Amino acid sequence: MAEVREFLRLQEARSLLDELAAGAEHLSRIVTGVRPLAYSADQGLTDVDVHAGLEQALLLLRHKLPPGVGVVRDLAPDARTVRGRPADLALVWLNLLDNAVDAVGEHGTITLRTRRDGDHVVVDVDNTGPTVPPEVLDRVFDAFFTTKPIGKGTGLGLATSLAVVAQQHHGELTLSSSDGVTRARVVLPG
Ligand SMILES: Nc1ncnc2c1ncn2[C@@H]1O[C@H](COP(=O)(O)OP(=O)(O)OP(=O)(O)O)[C@@H](O)[C@H]1O
Ligand SMILES: [Mg+2]
Repeated sequence: MAEVREFLRLQEARSLLDELAAGAEHLSRIVTGVRPLAYSADQGLTDVDVHAGLEQALLLLRHKLPPGVGVVRDLAPDARTVRGRPADLALVWLNLLDNAVDAVGEHGTITLRTRRDGDHVVVDVDNTGPTVPPEVLDRVFDAFFTTKPIGKGTGLGLATSLAVVAQQHHGELTLSSSDGVTRARVVLPG
């Protein structure tokens, strides 16, 4: 009987820990989403290393990356630097990569590509996976729009990323999808 009680206590402790972990993850997502807007005033414009930012985001999401997903880097040396707000752009890369990791599934490829286009830098985060239907693409930048299960997505990642890219940096952020490849494209003055 004592063993059974002990077992039940352990079970309870375990489910409590699971809940705590889920809560912490949820909270960190919300903070990630809101921070760029909350703290945007105290950052000035500096040279921002886009390639380092992408690597950093990848590192933070490493634990979510299934072993069957490959990461390809196609980074142009002359597209490394933009003028911007480093912390806010870091969260853009994190949000875009987070979406790519969620969408790519257990097997597939995520490609990080940069190139210079005149006085702009183009950053593509591509993932293989199901093609996103047009009626979803139409709404992905709406705040709180998510197709993810309750508790997983808040639907703020792209809305806040758009605010950072378009309003703060006078750039462009688009999501497109065809033939099993979805592409988040950021164009920044650089
Ligand atoms: N790379 C992608 N591939 C497929 N669908 C995507 C991709 N990126 C975004 N989406 C779609 O756009 C929706 C909105 O994305 P967004 O990042 O704003 O919110 P979320 O990922 O659902 O939640 P959050 O980012 O707040 O955790 C997603 O739920 C998904 O349906
Ligand atoms: Mg997201």
